[in-house]
Amino acid sequence: MPPRCLQLANINPNFINMEYAVRGPLDIRAGEIEKELERGVKMPFDQVIRVNIGDCHAMGQQPVTFLRQLLTLTFEPRLLYSPDYPEDVKKRARLILDNCQGHSVGSYTDSAGLEVVRRQVAAFIERRDGGVPSDWQNIYLTGGSSPGIKSIVSLIHCQLDGKTPGVMVPIPQYPLYSGAITEYGMVKVDYYLEEETGWSLNRKELQRSFDECQQHCNPRALVVINPGNPTGQVLTRDNIVEIIKFAHDNQLLLLADEVYQDNVYDKNSKFYSFKKVMHEMGEPYSSQELVSFHSTSKGYLGECGIRGGYMEVMNLCPKVKAMLTKSITAALCSTTAGQVAVSALVNPPQPGEPSYERFISENNATLAALKERAELVYNALSGFEGYKVNPIQGAMYVFPQIEIPPKAIAAAKAKNMDPDVFYASELLETSGICIVPGSGFGQKPGTYHFRSTILPQTDKLKLMMEKFRVFHAEFMKKYK
Ligand SMILES: Cc1ncc(COP(=O)(O)O)c(C=O)c1O
Repeated sequence: MPPRCLQLANINPNFINMEYAVRGPLDIRAGEIEKELERGVKMPFDQVIRVNIGDCHAMGQQPVTFLRQLLTLTFEPRLLYSPDYPEDVKKRARLILDNCQGHSVGSYTDSAGLEVVRRQVAAFIERRDGGVPSDWQNIYLTGGSSPGIKSIVSLIHCQLDGKTPGVMVPIPQYPLYSGAITEYGMVKVDYYLEEETGWSLNRKELQRSFDECQQHCNPRALVVINPGNPTGQVLTRDNIVEIIKFAHDNQLLLLADEVYQDNVYDKNSKFYSFKKVMHEMGEPYSSQELVSFHSTSKGYLGECGIRGGYMEVMNLCPKVKAMLTKSITAALCSTTAGQVAVSALVNPPQPGEPSYERFISENNATLAALKERAELVYNALSGFEGYKVNPIQGAMYVFPQIEIPPKAIAAAKAKNMDPDVFYASELLETSGICIVPGSGFGQKPGTYHFRSTILPQTDKLKLMMEKFRVFHAEFMKKYK
C-alpha cells in the first residue's frame, strides 16, 4: 500500500494535542466492558453505570411532551389536522412553519436562525432578567451551545505584539474550553476556583492568573461557568459583580456559560445572569463586552442530541459582530430541529393554555428529581472516608476531593497512571461505575478529584451509591 497522504506527522498538531476527558479512555473502556457483558463474559457486576457524561435522556430522563409535540408537528405538518395535538402547540408549530422558506423545516434558515425564534429568545431573556432589554439581532441560534462557544473562541484568535491569544478558564473547567483553545492553537490561562469556599471565585486569584500569563500570551477573554461544571456551585451576585469589574478593568471579553441556569437546587442559591447584573451595575460596566450561552441540552429538557442552543452577544463593536455573522453564514445554519427545540425552551405553554398543566408538572417533576438526587449523592459521598464534598447547589455534577493513600499512589505509578485515573479505573473494573478523573477538568496539583453526574434514576442511583461505598471501603482497606 502506498504511504497515506495523511499521517500523524503531517496533520494539524492541535488535533493531536487536544483532549476531551469526558469521552476519554475510561469511556472507551466502559464501552468495551458493555460489549463483553453482552457476550456473556463474567464480571463482578451486570451493568455499566455511566455517570461520566451529562446526558440526561441516556440516563432515563423523560422528554417534555410539549417539546416533542412541537417537533413532531413542525416535522410532520399533516398532523396539524390531527385532533391528538393541543391547539397551543399547533399554533406555535404553524408560526414556525410560516416563517420557514417553503413552509418546511427542510429548508435552510437565516444563518443566525429563524427570526421568529430569535425574537422569542430575546423576549425570554427580557422576562428572565426583569425587563432588561434584549435585541433579537444579538441572538444567534446554534447547534447546542458548543458551536457558539467555539465560534467566539475562534473569533478572538489574533496574535498581538507577537503574543498568542490566551483565554482565562476556571480550574476545574468543562473540557470543551481546553479542547477548543488547544484546537485553535491558543493558550489556556488557568485560574483556580476556591474549593474551601464552595468553589467560589475571587478577584485576587483572577489577578494572579492574569498577571502571570502576560509573559507568554495575551489574555483576551474570561470564561465563567455558572452554575458550574464540574463543580456544581452557583455564583453569588457579589461574586458576579467582582468578576464583571475584573473583566472590565482588564479589557477582557466575558464569556458567560449559563447552560445550567434552570438547574439550581440549593434553597439559598439563585441564578443571576451576567447580563442582568451588568445592567444593574450601570456605566461603565453595563458596556462590558459579554457573550452568554444557553442550551436545550440541560435544565428540565435535557435534549442533548437535538442540538439546540443560542448565544446572545452584547456590546460588541458592530464591525466585529458583522465578521462573526459572516463566519456563521459560511456554515449556513444550525439544524432546524435544534431551532424548534430552542423555541420550546424559550416560549413554553402559559397558564390557561391547553398544554400548560402537563408541561408544568413534567418540568417540576424533572427538576424535583434532580434536586433529590443532588442531595442523595452529596449525603452519600460525604460519609466516605477521606472525601471532602461541597454541596451540589446547581448543574448536574458532584466533584469530590478524595484522599488517595500513598500505597495506592505507588500502585498507580507502577501502572504509569495518575492516581485519580487509577482510582476511577479500579472503580470501573470492579463495580461498573464510570466516572471522570479530576485531571480531565484540572485540579490543584497534589489534589485528587473525580466528577460524577447525578443523573441516574433515583433507584439506580441509590444502588450505585451502595456499590460505590463498598468499592471505596475495599479500596481503602487494600491500600491504607
Ligand atoms: C458547562 C457546559 N457548557 C457547554 C456544554 C455543551 O453542551 P451543548 O453543546 O450540548 O449545549 C456543556 C455540556 O455538558 C457544559 O457542561
